[in-house]
Amino acid sequence: MKADLVIKNIKKLYTLKGPNRARIKDEMKEVGLIEDGVIAVKDDSIIYVGQGELPKDFETHENTVVIDARDKTVIPGLVDSHTHLVHSGSRENELAMKLRGAKYLEILAAGGGIHSTVEATRNATFSELYNQAKKSLDIMLSYGVTTVEAKSGYGIDDFDTELKQMEVAVKLNEDHPVDVVSTFLGAHAVPKRYKDNPDDFVRILIDDMIPEVSRRKLAVFCDVFCEEGVFDIAQTRKILEAGLQYGLIPKIHADEIEPMGGAELAAEIGCISADHLVAASERGIEMMAEKGVIANLLPGTSFYLQSGKHARARKMIDSGVPVSISTDYNPGSCPTENMQLVMSFASLLYKMTPEEVLTASTINGAASLKLENKIGSIEVGKKADILVLDSPNFDYVIYHFGINHTLYVIKNGKLVLDRQKGF
Ligand code: NIG
Ligand code: FE
Repeated sequence: MKADLVIKNIKKLYTLKGPNRARIKDEMKEVGLIEDGVIAVKDDSIIYVGQGELPKDFETHENTVVIDARDKTVIPGLVDSHTHLVHSGSRENELAMKLRGAKYLEILAAGGGIHSTVEATRNATFSELYNQAKKSLDIMLSYGVTTVEAKSGYGIDDFDTELKQMEVAVKLNEDHPVDVVSTFLGAHAVPKRYKDNPDDFVRILIDDMIPEVSRRKLAVFCDVFCEEGVFDIAQTRKILEAGLQYGLIPKIHADEIEPMGGAELAAEIGCISADHLVAASERGIEMMAEKGVIANLLPGTSFYLQSGKHARARKMIDSGVPVSISTDYNPGSCPTENMQLVMSFASLLYKMTPEEVLTASTINGAASLKLENKIGSIEVGKKADILVLDSPNFDYVIYHFGINHTLYVIKNGKLVLDRQKGF
């Protein structure tokens, strides 16, 4: 068989070989390490993974790309499975308020926060939104991310803006090397004009918006910001159940700041993931473990919110909850696209081992997007989404934090980023 791309002499190849499902407990430490590894790719798929030389039955041709990964580390492309990629503007004006002690929910309740990004996003054209999101996607790719989830949620009651955000995500998925998976988050904040009658907005989400998003095939997932002063448990349940009826898989911003019972609800409904979970209860964690709901944790956000509280990842892993990690890239609570930094935060703030962090940001991230059969590990038959890191091992990436270790990114079998050549 002729290979189109070969990566050889890999010092440390972390394959993440194992079952095509979210890994739990000690499985999260099993990263399928091969020393002196070799990978062969044909078209967009992996056709060989092994040790030492490439076997003779795999040939190269004149256009085969050969990468020498001597002294380098190779891992699956990173999956950032929770972002608010498509939005307009930025909120650095909130920094001074934060430093003076203003809390995230106070800024939101005063009509700022998400509402100010809603305003900016409503006023932005399709191409302005596209260009800003594309720039972020380029940064994400430079940090080794090959699949990204993108939420709407900055139009809220302005449905055209919600649709515009999802259309940008769908278009970027077509145009950009990074795969973009779209999520409908119309329930991201209670619109100002529904402040006194939020259930009226919940009705519109259920009766009008969800059926239309589903009909236009603009999203795979449906999400709700379930939080004090935002959507309560009863409203969240109704919205997610309506989404399910229309084929949208439920996700939830759960127990981010206040303990709301979001983890419990995620287990009851059967959400694919419950995200944040800083204030999740013991019972909620147990229920998530029973139902196999993935805890999608966002350490960059709890770092940036500066509340001093972080999700209890160790407790979750030990209880058998599958854990993934993501940036939560957004203009308010986590303004960074840097997945490698967030991986270091996961280790340092949650006490997750580098192996657990690697599992959480590859195969478990893939599972929280229901893509575990296609991506998330380096195995024959999987898509060739592969990252070559300029580091002697993976622990080094976690340890030497805040910088970019990416050397090459291979997406769908193609070399899409070469930092030595500068593309
Ligand atoms: O995941 N919590 C709600 N949504 C985002 C923040 C969005 C924003 O502040 O613009 C989050 O933290
Ligand atoms: Fe979020």
